[in-house]
Amino acid sequence: MNGSITNVLAPARLGPLLLRNRVIKAATFEARSPGGAVTDDLIDYHRAPAAGGVGMTTVAYCAVSPEGRTERDQILMGPDVVVQLRRLTDAVHAEGAAVCAQLGHAGPVANGASNGVAAMSPSRLFSPLAMQATHRPDGADLARVVDDHARAAVLAADAGFDAVELHFAHNYLVSAFLSPLLNRRRDSYGGALANRARLAREIAIAVREAVGDRIAVTAKLSMDDGVPGGLRIAESLQVGRWLQDDGALDALQLTVGSSLLNPMFYFRGDAPRNEFARTFRPPLSWALISAARFFLRRYPFHEAYLLDHARQFRRELSMPLILLGGITSKESMDLAMREGFEFVAMARALLRDPQLLNRIQADAEAVSLCIHCNKCMVTIFERTRCVLRTEPAGVS
Ligand SMILES: Cc1cc2nc3c(=O)[nH]c(=O)nc-3n(C[C@H](O)[C@H](O)[C@H](O)COP(=O)(O)O)c2cc1C
Ligand code: SF4
Repeated sequence: MNGSITNVLAPARLGPLLLRNRVIKAATFEARSPGGAVTDDLIDYHRAPAAGGVGMTTVAYCAVSPEGRTERDQILMGPDVVVQLRRLTDAVHAEGAAVCAQLGHAGPVANGASNGVAAMSPSRLFSPLAMQATHRPDGADLARVVDDHARAAVLAADAGFDAVELHFAHNYLVSAFLSPLLNRRRDSYGGALANRARLAREIAIAVREAVGDRIAVTAKLSMDDGVPGGLRIAESLQVGRWLQDDGALDALQLTVGSSLLNPMFYFRGDAPRNEFARTFRPPLSWALISAARFFLRRYPFHEAYLLDHARQFRRELSMPLILLGGITSKESMDLAMREGFEFVAMARALLRDPQLLNRIQADAEAVSLCIHCNKCMVTIFERTRCVLRTEPAGVS
């Protein structure tokens, strides 16, 4: 480490892209696309952090396949949404920011009942969300999923996105394949880590081949599922090395946890158990009140809470890395730069105040107003927002 530290607020390259600074708005599922349509509400949601100064905002979770939606009111990448998404990318560009589409397949996290098509998981399991069994894909299904990612990335580039972020985290499909707990297959996609990592690597390579250097390609990778028997850091480090060696990605964003089994491991802070149970109707809500104690565990929040995990990736890899998790101040952004990360990503701090980065540019001591209550987590079932934020109707 030399004396000068990288200026997080100065322009930086991300693959073929030049960002105005190193701060990325992380994906926070918006719940503003009824029937999968791009609404003005969704556009305003991303215009806000763009006007607030971020280098790039990320449109959360655009599904690559019909069964890969978490539920039916989600954007499904197809030729018909390109024109709609173009309005969104134009609006973000007009504010001087770049815009990334998070592309993914929800795998076992999908609600098959809502989608009208069974969820997919590496090995068959019962989905309590849909009250039905998931579908175990064969080789042809997986080849189609790989193609779906490549096709979706081309559509994203056509719609004006500057980058795509591949969802390799939180026990969604690719992350479920990485997990020794969820992946009990005995074919070339199961067993040894090299087999469990095959789908991730095939998708990254197919996406890069499809888009070339038209746009940046990153992936959000779980370092540790936080689940007994799940993916742990020794294995995820090896996955990181393979992804780096394949050369298909411009950066890795590092996360932890499982949407299926341990979501609070990636949030940290208060566990909104009652609010979560209340989003469902009885008798499911009654069952969830007691189950929430196990599902929504409490982990203390502190600034840059994923740094200890992410530092191990920094030591092993030379490719650009994005530090995520509890970045809320200029101080933690500078810490990330000193530790050798190229970018930082922020979710809740910008949900609480999309103007935070402008405030930090004006005053390095500016503080985030987010209190890590995590009640926004529950708003994803209706319309995602910070519950402490008063906003004019229709404006995020
Ligand atoms: C309301 C909400 C929705 C989220 N939706 C997504 C999502 O769609 N995809 C994803 O990868 N992460 C999602 N996340 C996780 C965030 O991207 C991020 O990993 C997490 O909040 C930790 O970062 P933070 O400390 O800056 O908030 C969501 C977080 C919140 C608060
Ligand atoms: S609801 Fe608001 S204050 Fe609470 S965690 Fe979410 S963004 Fe932060």
